[in-house]
Amino acid sequence: MRKALFIANWKMNKKIAEARKFCEEFLPLLDNVTDVETVICPPFTCLHVLSAALQGSPVKLGAQDLFWEDKGAYTGEISASMLLDAACEFVIVGHSERRQIVGENDTVINRKLKAALDASLLPVLCIGETLQERENSMAMEVVKEQLHRDLRDIELSEGQLLIAYEPVWAIGTGVNASSDDVRKMIAFVRECLAKMFSQSLADSVRILYGGSVNEENIKMFLSKEEIDGALVGGASLQAESFAKIVRYKEI
Ligand code: 13P
Repeated sequence: MRKALFIANWKMNKKIAEARKFCEEFLPLLDNVTDVETVICPPFTCLHVLSAALQGSPVKLGAQDLFWEDKGAYTGEISASMLLDAACEFVIVGHSERRQIVGENDTVINRKLKAALDASLLPVLCIGETLQERENSMAMEVVKEQLHRDLRDIELSEGQLLIAYEPVWAIGTGVNASSDDVRKMIAFVRECLAKMFSQSLADSVRILYGGSVNEENIKMFLSKEEIDGALVGGASLQAESFAKIVRYKEI
C-alpha cells in the first residue's frame, strides 16, 4: 500500500512570521490524523524557522528547488547538502513554473534529480502538459518524453522518487483536471516507469496530482486508486484549508 501524501508548495509566498503563524494554526488541526504523510515546501528563507516549528510533529520539510553542484561559485544557488543541513527531506524538481518562467530544461532537471538522489533527498519530479499540447492530443507523448529525458541515466531503488502530475493549464487557474483524466495519466506514467525500470519499482512510486486542488475536490481525486496524493499550491497557504485536504477522509 502506498501511503497518501500531501505536499504544500507555498511557491513565493509567506514571510517568516507568517510561516510561524501557519504552523501554530496548522499543527493542532492535524490531531489524530493517521495513515497520511504531510510535507511543507516553503520558500528557502522560511526553511530554518519551519524546521524548528515542525520539530516533534509528523509534518516533514521540503524545498522548492535545488542546484546540482554541492558548493562553490554559483551565486544565488542552494545545494542538496544545504537543504539537508536545513532539515529538508524532500525537494520539488522541475515544477512547470521553473520550466516556463525560469527556462529550466530537461537537462537541468536531470542534473537536479541526480544531485537530490545522491544526497538522499526525496525528489518530487513535476511533469505535465500545456493546454495546447492537450488540445492537440499530445499530453501522453509529452509526459513520456519528460520522464525519459528527466530520468535519463538514473538508477532508482524503491521509495527514492515521487512524481507529481501537474497539467500546466490546471495550475493556479481554478480549473482542475477531471479525476478520470488524472487517473488515466497516472496509470500511463506508471506503465512508462515499469518499462524504464521495473514493475516493482513502478508500483512503489507515489504519483500525486497537482492543479487547483482544494478541500472541495480532494476527495474525488483520492477516491481513485491510482492517485496517491496531491501537490497543493494556493489551497495550502491557509492552515484550515490545507488541514481539510489532509483530512480528506472526514469530508
Ligand atoms: P495550485 O494548487 O495553486 O493550482 O498550484 C498547483 C501547483 O503548482 C503545486 O505545485
